[in-house]
Amino acid sequence: MDIRFQNLGPEQWKGAVMLAPVCEGESLPGQPELDKAAPWLAIAPALRDFKAKKDELALLHGHPELPIPRVLAIGLGPRDKFDISGLRKAVAAAVQRCHSLGLESILLPEPCLARLPGGRERLVEEAVLAACLALYKFTVLKKPAEDEPAPPQWLALGFDGESVPDAAHAAARRGERAATAVARARDLANMPGNLLYPEVMAERAMELAQSAGFTCRVLDVPALEAEGMGAMLAVGQGSARPPRLVVLEYAPAGHEQEKPLIFVGKGITFDSGGISLKPSANMHQMKSDMSGAAAVLAAMTALAEEETPRRLVGLLACAENMPDGQATRPGDVVRAANGDTVEIVNTDAEGRLVLCDALVYAQKHWTPAAIVDVATLTGACMVALGTGLAGLFSDDDDLCERIMAAGGVGGEHFWRLPLWQDYAEQLKSETADICHAGPREGGAINAALFLKHFVREGVRWAHLDIAGVDWNSKTSPLCPAGAAGFAARTLLELGRGGVQ
Ligand code: BES
Ligand code: MN
Ligand code: ZN
Repeated sequence: MDIRFQNLGPEQWKGAVMLAPVCEGESLPGQPELDKAAPWLAIAPALRDFKAKKDELALLHGHPELPIPRVLAIGLGPRDKFDISGLRKAVAAAVQRCHSLGLESILLPEPCLARLPGGRERLVEEAVLAACLALYKFTVLKKPAEDEPAPPQWLALGFDGESVPDAAHAAARRGERAATAVARARDLANMPGNLLYPEVMAERAMELAQSAGFTCRVLDVPALEAEGMGAMLAVGQGSARPPRLVVLEYAPAGHEQEKPLIFVGKGITFDSGGISLKPSANMHQMKSDMSGAAAVLAAMTALAEEETPRRLVGLLACAENMPDGQATRPGDVVRAANGDTVEIVNTDAEGRLVLCDALVYAQKHWTPAAIVDVATLTGACMVALGTGLAGLFSDDDDLCERIMAAGGVGGEHFWRLPLWQDYAEQLKSETADICHAGPREGGAINAALFLKHFVREGVRWAHLDIAGVDWNSKTSPLCPAGAAGFAARTLLELGRGGVQ
């Protein structure tokens, strides 16, 4: 759907439908722009049924020949309970209604948004994002339903004055770009393991790098061997699809010498558990065990497209975790890229193995401003925090605050969990320098402590455990069931903001 702009005031606005967001108890005719754009509203007979309760939608019809023949009133609930996540949901539900009605164009009056609490530009940004994500569907592998109408071709923001304010224009573009990033991450994570494996991730990254303007290098098995990445290789060796480390670099002119902000993503294109095979129930969801890498790739692409003035590196640690005659056995000892030997007691704890080598690589080749890794790492994190909160681990309070703030922009919420050093004892091994997994209790913390072992003292580092939040079991206005694209927006906002 195209995002457009209309100005010159309500009398000039056009569209198959006008969205009219209203708070409960506030009257629909009576808002000056709506009255001017659709004067017939005042006599629309169905209007009195509309109470503007949260989630309430009412479609009102004027004469079909009018420049705006329909109004879709959107209930926002009471003004004092209004928040931006409510706006996102309301706009998304309204746009889905427009889609199912087969309406080809939508007008959203900016002055109506501007009257809501939250800040003019932010409201535009999130309304545009929500409108775009409302139409997201993973369609490439499915015939379209015969009776499904075409999606709306455009949504226009209607402005009052002679011209569209630059700030509103920029806000709309930011929202659109964020939605594209989330949709890209979802597309990657929804793609099944037979169609998306490490080499395919590398190809996608290469294509996006070329179109968005960053560089992409791919380390194949001999290159991983040369880097001494025995942990990552151990994960991939039971699969017919070889592992890949994908290295993305973005350094705009004038920022080449800057310390890069480094994103590291877990890219397990399918996680069967390996020899420590998972139970079959819901195993298919493990096609999205590369959500972290997907978020990194999507965010890097968006940041490069908008020419963010900062240096960035993205590492996608991709492998498929499968059981075969070559597979790693529980009890095997391998050598990680930092030279330490690692005892692998459970081949289903593979994410931390690909990540530890990627973390070492990040510190060997750059002096990072900060490293943020993103991973669907532990079922324990999902048990601890549920499916609405992601785990955040870092000893750096400032970095934690920035990540929580970045997440807050798009409604991705993180809860800080401790890197409780006493538990590091549990990662001691009889046979190797470190054991990669501890007891089930505190599993998310143990995994984070294993990663921390590979981060040098003084390096700013945070670990995001997105197991559980990256997948939606139910359809909602902003996301159909399946991959949520979680963390793409957070990384995008983090790249847009500070962290020097
Ligand atoms: N990819 C899984 C974690 C996961 C579980 C993500 C459920 C999303 C939903 C990870 O590789 C894994 O299997 N972790 C194990 C670690 C354990 C063996 C130490 C887990 O959490 O059970
Ligand atoms: Mn696993
Ligand atoms: Zn996994």
